[in-house]
Amino acid sequence: MPRTWPARYRLHKYWSRKPADLVADRIAAATAPGELVLDPFCGSGVAPLEAAILGRPAIGVDVNPFAIFLARTTAVRCDPDALAATGARIIAAARLAEGGWHRTTCRGCGGEAALAGTARDGSEIVAVLVRCPACGGTRRELPSDDDRVLAAAAELAGDGGAPRPPVFRGWQTRKLVRAGLGDFGELFTIRNLRALATLRASIVGEPPGPLRDCLLLALTGALAQGSRMMADHGRAGGGASWKINIYWLPARSLELDPFRCFTNRLARVVAAKRETAALLAAAPAPRLICADVRDLDAHVPAGSVSYAFCDPPYGGEGIQYAELSALWCAWLDPPLSPPLDQEIGENPHRGRDAATFAAGLAEAFRAVRRTLAPDGRLTVTFASADDGAWRALRAALHGAGLVVTAEDRAVRSAPALTERTAPRAPREDVWLDCVPSRR
Ligand SMILES: C[S@@+](CC[C@H](N)C(=O)[O-])C[C@H]1O[C@@H](n2cnc3c(N)ncnc32)[C@H](O)[C@@H]1O
Ligand SMILES: [Zn+2]
Repeated sequence: MPRTWPARYRLHKYWSRKPADLVADRIAAATAPGELVLDPFCGSGVAPLEAAILGRPAIGVDVNPFAIFLARTTAVRCDPDALAATGARIIAAARLAEGGWHRTTCRGCGGEAALAGTARDGSEIVAVLVRCPACGGTRRELPSDDDRVLAAAAELAGDGGAPRPPVFRGWQTRKLVRAGLGDFGELFTIRNLRALATLRASIVGEPPGPLRDCLLLALTGALAQGSRMMADHGRAGGGASWKINIYWLPARSLELDPFRCFTNRLARVVAAKRETAALLAAAPAPRLICADVRDLDAHVPAGSVSYAFCDPPYGGEGIQYAELSALWCAWLDPPLSPPLDQEIGENPHRGRDAATFAAGLAEAFRAVRRTLAPDGRLTVTFASADDGAWRALRAALHGAGLVVTAEDRAVRSAPALTERTAPRAPREDVWLDCVPSRR
């Protein structure tokens, strides 16, 4: 079983993140220290970072600026203790500025307690999660009149200037379009939107640099959990956010305390920084470039790469990385624009079909091939239940003069619930090792 999630990659969600140990083994086997490693679809940056840890200079390229922000912030050096201390100060200040809309009364001792969550069936509040500092633990209780009044008043108090990008037509926004949502702010209660905006205001007041980036990453990482996308399962806790790979609004939702969501995310970023501090101490910093792989020539000299790790989008009804990053992009400072129309992939809602995907993949692999040294090697990972997507990949490799020398299967990396349960969902990632045909 691969170790997909060492602490350094548990700091933020990304889709189809590859198991670090499998990637590292490939890099170690294919290169000597000092030889250049390229990942032209680097996503969250696993391959460039593992290459750096192994002492290989590395270049990671991705068209999605959020992926590059995530990869950079994963690779950046940041003192974990300073991060934890600044984070605690920001949380305390934001809680104060927000004005105490996440409070209730302990049913046991009658003292003031934290409102850890509010469960709704549609718009009706059906339960509250009460965490009492005196009694300990979190209990699920029936809502009181006070809880209802506070929740109603909170919805009238304004969104605190939260980023609210419009909902666009897309594959992964289709449920929101169907539900008539105008902007991504409607994914949240106003109460949570304002709390998150207050946190954001405190963070963006910090001086620019790695620490501020780490805080912003903790904030974007907390968004899904602080939103109405959290489904209520009748328990006293929240459970995983992003259970499915789409923006959606479950009928039964759980409004969690966003300060706590942020606190939990921040703890993960701090743990990641603790782990990488030692690992990256002597490592060459990876170069992380936001660019279209089809423009690789402008960034990577021909014939310079010893090993390329390629994990392209999978076509078919696969993940739309830019669409799913749009919410995160809007909350950064400055905000980023998701490359909704530059991504290689099929998207019926944005006019891209299987032929567009095949053409994009073909051009991408020709560009990658040009960067390979004569004795260079390449691994492609792919997962699809769609025969057309597989044909497109095989044709792209063949057209670029790349020959598959070995084929391997690995456990599917971190699939979302829908990926595991859909009847035709691929269960595995396929790993194809390739070499250039004309040596
Ligand atoms: C399967 S994911 C890679 C995940 C990565 N291996 C990881 O561990 O996080 C595919 C990536 O390809 C990127 N991508 C899509 N079209 C691209 C293009 N035209 N140029 C560069 N990257 C692209 C997406 O943004 C996405 O991050
Ligand atoms: Zn109590």
